[in-house]
Amino acid sequence: PDAVHVDEKSKDQQLAKDRSEPTGNFLTTDQGIRVEHTDDSLKIGARGPTLLEDFHFREKMTRFDHERIPERVVHARGAGAHGYFQVYESQAKYTRAKFLQDPSKKTPVFVRFSTVAGSRGSADTARDVRGFAVKFYTEEGNWDLVGNNIPVFFIQDGIKFPDIIHAAKPEPHHEIPQAQTAHDSFWDFVSLVPETMHMIMWIMSDRAIPRSFRMMQGFGVHTFRFVDEKNTSRFVKFHWKPLLGTHSLVWDEAQKLAGKDPDFHRRDLYEAIEQGDFPEYELGVQILEEADATKLGVDLLDATKLIPEEVAPVIPVGKLTLDRNPTNFFAETEQVAFCVANIVPGIDFTDDPLMQARLFSYLDTQLTRLGGPNFAEIPINRPLAPVHNHQQDGFHRQTSNVGRANYFPNSLGGGCPFLASQQQGGFVHHPEPVSGKKIRERAASFNDHYSQAALFFRSLSAPEQEHLIDACRFELGKVETKAIQERVLEHFAKIDALLVSAVAEGLGLPAPKATPVTPKGPPASKALS
Ligand code: HEM
Repeated sequence: PDAVHVDEKSKDQQLAKDRSEPTGNFLTTDQGIRVEHTDDSLKIGARGPTLLEDFHFREKMTRFDHERIPERVVHARGAGAHGYFQVYESQAKYTRAKFLQDPSKKTPVFVRFSTVAGSRGSADTARDVRGFAVKFYTEEGNWDLVGNNIPVFFIQDGIKFPDIIHAAKPEPHHEIPQAQTAHDSFWDFVSLVPETMHMIMWIMSDRAIPRSFRMMQGFGVHTFRFVDEKNTSRFVKFHWKPLLGTHSLVWDEAQKLAGKDPDFHRRDLYEAIEQGDFPEYELGVQILEEADATKLGVDLLDATKLIPEEVAPVIPVGKLTLDRNPTNFFAETEQVAFCVANIVPGIDFTDDPLMQARLFSYLDTQLTRLGGPNFAEIPINRPLAPVHNHQQDGFHRQTSNVGRANYFPNSLGGGCPFLASQQQGGFVHHPEPVSGKKIRERAASFNDHYSQAALFFRSLSAPEQEHLIDACRFELGKVETKAIQERVLEHFAKIDALLVSAVAEGLGLPAPKATPVTPKGPPASKALS
C-alpha cells in the first residue's frame, strides 16, 4: 500500500493548490480572458439599451445569482478552524487506529462548532445545543467525530429526528420564533416524549449558553467501539475537554449579546486564533469491556444516557490544538461535510438506533446541500490518504478516471487497484453476532427516562440549579397552551420535588404531586433554599 505522509502542514499544502489570489494579477473572466472594464455594461451609446452580447456582464451576474447553496438542515450556523491532533502515548492496547499510535505524529484536523436550531444568520448565543464536529485527516482516511457539547441526546431512535427538529425549528406557518426552546411546538413534543427529559435538564442548564467555543466540552454521545490488533472490541465513549475550562454565559448576557453582537462566538474563536491564543482540547475516552456492559444498569445503546465516570473514568488520550483560521469561510467552513460513517480501521459502530440513522442521514443530505455525489472531491473534504476506485461521473466531477476498465475485477490492466487485507489497512467491520425477530419495538432497557435527569439536576450547585429553574420558567412561560405546561410539570414531578414546585410557581400553576425517582448519587436539590 502507498506510504502516506500526513502532518499538520500537508492539509494546508493541499488546500493551497486550490486557492486563487486576485491581488497583483489581471482581472479575468472564468475563461481566462482579461477584462478591460467592469464598471459599465455594454450599451448602444452611453444612455442606450444594454446588449445581450456582454459576456462579461452576464458571467458576473450569473455567478452572483448562484452563489448560495442550501444551508444545513440542522447546525446551519457555525464557525470553523484548522489544527492538529497529537496522541499522548500509543493506544495500541485499545485500538489499531494508526493516528492513535505515535506521539510524535501530528494529524491535521478541521473543526466546525455550531448551533443546531437557528438558521445561518441567527445569533451565536441562543440557548441551544452546540455542535463540535472534528474531521481527522488520518493516513488511513478521514475519521469524523461528529459530536455535541452535551453528552446525551433528545431521542433514542433516529426515526424521531425529523419530528424533534420540526418541533424545534420555527413553526411552519409564520417562521417565528427563531429561538429553539421558546415556543409551543417544541414543548408540545417534549411533553409527549419523556425520553427527552435528561437532555431537557442539560439544555435548560448553563451548558446551553457557553461563554466561548474555546470553553466548551465535546462528546461523541453514542457508544462506539475500539478494536485492537487482535480484533478485540471494547466499547468507547469520546470526550473533549477544553484546557481553558468549561464556562458559560448567564442568560441576561446571552440575550443582550444576541442583539448587540450576534457573531460573539464566531468572533471570539477567530480573534483568539489570529492572536496566537490557540484553543486546546484534551481527548478522553471511557472504555468498557464488552463483558461488563450488561452490569452497567443503563443500556449503552441508549443515547439519552451517559456512562457514569465512577464506573468508567475518562482516560486522557491526546490533545487537539486549533492554530489556523480558514482562508475562506465558504470554501472551508460551509462546504465541509462531516459524516458519522467516515471511520477508520480500529474504530467501529454499535447498534445504537440513533447512530444507525445518522449513518444514513449525513451523506444523504450532503448530496443535496453540496450538489451531487462528488463532494468528497471538494478540497476541504478530500482525504490526505490516496483515493483509487471506480466511482465515476456525476455533477461536478473533478477527477478523470484513467484506463479502459471501470469495474472490479478486470483483466484489462491499468484500472484495477489491489484489495487490502486487514494487515494492509483494509477496513473489516467488527463481526458482531446478531440474531432476532424483525420488529418495530423499543427495548425495555431504554425505559427509565428520569433517573439520569434527576442525577444531573442534583449534581448542580445551588446557583446552577437556580439558573436551570429560571430557564424553565422563562422558556415554558412563553408557551401559550396551558395543557403543554401542565404535561411538562408532570414529568418534572418525576425528576425532583424542588424543580417542579419552583417551576410551577413561576408559571402560576399548581405543582403536581412530586414523585421523584431516587437514583443512587448526589443528595437531593439545594437551590432557592
Ligand atoms: C449536522 C442529522 C443527531 C451532531 C447534521 C446534519 C444532518 C444531521 C442532516 C446536516 C449535515 C450537513 O448538511 O452537512 C442528524 C440525525 C440525527 C442527528 C438524523 C439523529 C438521528 C445528532 C447527534 C449529534 C449530532 C446525536 C451529536 C452527537 C451534528 C453536528 C452537525 C450535524 C455537530 C454539524 C456538522 C457540521 O458542523 O457541519 N445532523 N443528526 N447530530 N449533526 Fe446531526
